[in-house]
Amino acid sequence: MTAKRTVVVVDDDKTNLMLMEMLFRSFADYQVLTFSSALQALTSLVTQDFEVAIVDYMMPEMDGISFVKQLRMQERHADKPIVMVTADKEADVRLAALDAGAVDFLQKPIEPIEFRVRMKNLLRLSEAQRKLSDRAAWLNSEVEKATQSLREREEEIIGRLSRAAGYKDMETALHTFRVARYCSALARQLGESPEFCRDIQLAAPMHDIGKVGIGDSILGKPGALTDEEREEMKKHTLIGAEILANSSCDLLHLAAEIALTHHERWDGRGYPMGKAGENIPRSGRIAAVADVFDALTTERPYKDAWPAERAFLYLREQAGRQFDPACVEAFERCKDEILSIMRSDPDAHAIAA
Ligand SMILES: [Fe+2]
Repeated sequence: MTAKRTVVVVDDDKTNLMLMEMLFRSFADYQVLTFSSALQALTSLVTQDFEVAIVDYMMPEMDGISFVKQLRMQERHADKPIVMVTADKEADVRLAALDAGAVDFLQKPIEPIEFRVRMKNLLRLSEAQRKLSDRAAWLNSEVEKATQSLREREEEIIGRLSRAAGYKDMETALHTFRVARYCSALARQLGESPEFCRDIQLAAPMHDIGKVGIGDSILGKPGALTDEEREEMKKHTLIGAEILANSSCDLLHLAAEIALTHHERWDGRGYPMGKAGENIPRSGRIAAVADVFDALTTERPYKDAWPAERAFLYLREQAGRQFDPACVEAFERCKDEILSIMRSDPDAHAIAA
């Protein structure tokens, strides 16, 4: 058995209240809540839902128009059908009531047949509106569920791709996850949206995925690379972008952008395209700072790990040359968080102070 829906009647005249209560007895699915005080009704309706309210115009504490205005200010009742009962045929009272948000009128004295017909129509309308809004809420939750599931699948694909890149090069695997966390901290400091900060953390681990296309003799070479090998190594940006290109998935699109542009330089002397300044996507400018900072502060076959202070100094020297100055400033501002990411990762050998 479903719970009865509520109809509210507000009238200082107790005889009218009784009459309307009696007339509602033919509506089996509804219960009537009566108030002889408008103020008491406003207080009770803060927590009470209803389908339709019938409000008298002439009341001692406040008139029906003030009552409707105040009731409309309660968000849950902003769109509820409210009927004004008036003995007044004056057009200005009716206009003011309509303006305040009343949707219909009943003339005093109440005529039972007219009352029943009007209420029947209004309640039917109210029921239809409720069903529509229930349906909209259901559809919304279904869309949310589907979006969430799609998102989880996207994140899974990205996680697996990042792991695949890690099999090729263990150093790359550990490096990529630290870079992702630096990127997210930096993006947050730059005032990017929480969605972007989350997305860049998920997409950044693939910035070096193009290294799967670079020969092991170059990737694992302990000493400095020859010019030819360096040129070959630079291709990892293009290979990465190629692997991730043309996806309809936003995360993969962002990952492709980062893979392609994380070695561009603010002064235009980077690779692979030699883009400069704000022509480089912000994601690429963020990743450039995070990537270099991590490379400097960890041990590599050809170099020791730099202390964090020295790496921060390098970033400062390169602000406006290699890096976007705004990114360097923001990275410095979140230094404590950066150092804590460094400390939390056992692979980061540098002295984090
Ligand atoms: Fe790279």
